Amino acid sequence: MTINIVIFASGNGTNAENIVRHFAGSDTVKVAAMFTGNPRAGVIERMSRYGVPCRIFSREQWNDPTDIVNELHRLETRLIVLAGFLSVVKKEIIDAVGGNIINIHPSLLPRHGGKGMWGMHVHRAVLEAGDTESGITIHYVTEEIDGGAILCQRRCPVMPGDTPESLAQRVHQLEYDALPGVIATLADTMQAS
Ligand code: GAR
Repeated sequence: MTINIVIFASGNGTNAENIVRHFAGSDTVKVAAMFTGNPRAGVIERMSRYGVPCRIFSREQWNDPTDIVNELHRLETRLIVLAGFLSVVKKEIIDAVGGNIINIHPSLLPRHGGKGMWGMHVHRAVLEAGDTESGITIHYVTEEIDGGAILCQRRCPVMPGDTPESLAQRVHQLEYDALPGVIATLADTMQAS
């Protein structure tokens, strides 16, 4: 049985594209749709290139997520993957997939997590703190921002002379390498249970 996943994304969508490319033709995982709250997000164009249906929900719909939950059920969603998704996720959405919802964060949590810590803000904070290493964290999503159980972390060095952009590039590479594998492992576990 195929495990349907739905990607939530707000921005450029390079991780979302990497996931779609990785599972193209897979018997195990199908990217059923991408949900966003940002009608100008680059991820919409990226998903459209691969024929992945995109749904844009309003701020009101994210705050009272009845429509979103209904759509998740209609798509028989087993797993939600947050790939650069910037809004807080309501409990109703987490419950709709029985807690099977994961996020990728571009630092070694608990360092540089929490409110306001996303994308370039995180890389700037890492450099300002003088950290000698950074990395990624893939974790379950709970109502607490960046607070759920950690599934996977990968590390990379912070190089002398790094800018937020050069560090972001190194961290993105870790994300592309790690996230599809975590999704595949979770999907295999779901299939076996
Ligand atoms: C990724 O680096 C992801 O870890 C980060 O946003 C970027 C999205 O890039 N997510 C967060 O900061 C969440 N707190 P993408 O749109 O190119 O995949």
